[in-house]
Amino acid sequence: MNSEVSLTARGFFPAFHPCFFLCEFALTKIEESDIKDDSGKEPITEDDADPEDLEVFYPTHQWQTIRPGQAVPAGSHVRLNLQTGDREAKLGKVDVVSNSFTAQELKKALAKMKENEKAERKAHEEEVRKKFRPIEQLKEEFEKLNMKMETDYEIMVKLISKFNSSASTLDEKVAALYDLEYYVHQVDNAKDFLSMGGLQLVIDGLNSTEAALKEHAAFVLGAALSSNPKVQIEAIEGGALQKLLVILATEQPLAVKKKALFALSSMLRHFPYAQQQFLKLGGLQVLRSLFRQKGMETLHVRVVTLLYDLIVEKVRSQEGGDGTRPEKIQQYRQVKLVPAVVEQDWCVVVSNLLAMPEHDTREKVLKMVSVLMAFCKERYRGDQALSTTLGLLRSEYEELAAEEQREGDKEGYFKELLGSVNTIIQELR
Ligand SMILES: *[C@@H]1O[C@H](CO)[C@@H](O)[C@H](O)[C@H]1NC(C)=O
Ligand SMILES: *[C@@H]1O[C@H](CO)[C@@H](O)[C@H](O)[C@H]1NC(C)=O
Repeated sequence: MNSEVSLTARGFFPAFHPCFFLCEFALTKIEESDIKDDSGKEPITEDDADPEDLEVFYPTHQWQTIRPGQAVPAGSHVRLNLQTGDREAKLGKVDVVSNSFTAQELKKALAKMKENEKAERKAHEEEVRKKFRPIEQLKEEFEKLNMKMETDYEIMVKLISKFNSSASTLDEKVAALYDLEYYVHQVDNAKDFLSMGGLQLVIDGLNSTEAALKEHAAFVLGAALSSNPKVQIEAIEGGALQKLLVILATEQPLAVKKKALFALSSMLRHFPYAQQQFLKLGGLQVLRSLFRQKGMETLHVRVVTLLYDLIVEKVRSQEGGDGTRPEKIQQYRQVKLVPAVVEQDWCVVVSNLLAMPEHDTREKVLKMVSVLMAFCKERYRGDQALSTTLGLLRSEYEELAAEEQREGDKEGYFKELLGSVNTIIQELR
């Protein structure tokens, strides 16, 4: 028998929402007749999975499987297929709302999602290790001889040579990069990757004529750069910054730009020297141009988030409270990001994003608008569209916050968003 439970997704929550198991949703048995359209299941196109990505599930009228980590938009009809263990969703009616979730639940869901991502990584690691089983055997033999061999190191050597070999096919090269991305997340592995010459190879891969190689090279680079000052320095000296900006400034598939933006973010964060170079090379104009190119909308919030983080990072360093070394504080002083942001009229570009439907996006944009308020106030005061949007946001969040409070959540997520909206409205009076 095909037994399933179903519920209506309320709000925007990750696929592993704990309420599937814990909360008092109205559970409905699905009749056999409801399940027929399973056969017409649409394949979900494999997008890429940035580590910083919250992937979004796009519901249609057909049931589709929700992949781990995907966020399901409000109003989707979600069910748990007890036979396969898969969660599935399709478009549903928003009015069948029986419950909502609190910020606490959201946090739990996010924690759960992270766990699942870890599990996925682990599975990927197993897969990679399986391919190199002989190494494991070698290792055992070495251990018998009291010698120790670094498995990760050996695997990376093989992957690099696979990527570098002219005998490898495009698919093999992409697969090698895909696997490398996993290893270079670890700080020590990334340093080895550097000393093996792998870093320069992926930097050179950024101007490959093959989009797939560019994309995966940027992915590996971004992973290696994350919180790794040594790699950041070597990468900027190896010309990575220019190449990433070229990718972002020229016509490229979205997937390539997405990964290039990810790598650029990893390059700039906590590295004021790179931030200076970025400004000198016209990087800010390049990011601005993404707002004029068609089809790049999914990058907009990422760009705004990056700029917000860089502005906050500089402010914190100048406050000196975060243990930043004096030379670095000096370097941050040279980063004239805010004046450039104001001069290029990012004020309006940012506030326009408040019209986006996702709460999570709005949360990020509201933060950025607050930071820009000191510099963009006059611009914002004369902006009729902005004041209309803020008014709409206020009534939406008043309602959601009230609902939240009725459910006993006094310091809820929507209350916080409402607070940000109100502060901005007040400052514009
Ligand atoms: C890549 O291949 C070239 C040509 O075979 C070789 O000279 C170079 O050392 C290789 N680089 C790495 C990092 O293995
Ligand atoms: C990429 O650029 C570097 C230097 O900018 C050049 O040496 C290399 O040949 C280029 N590679 C490709 C595939 O165009």
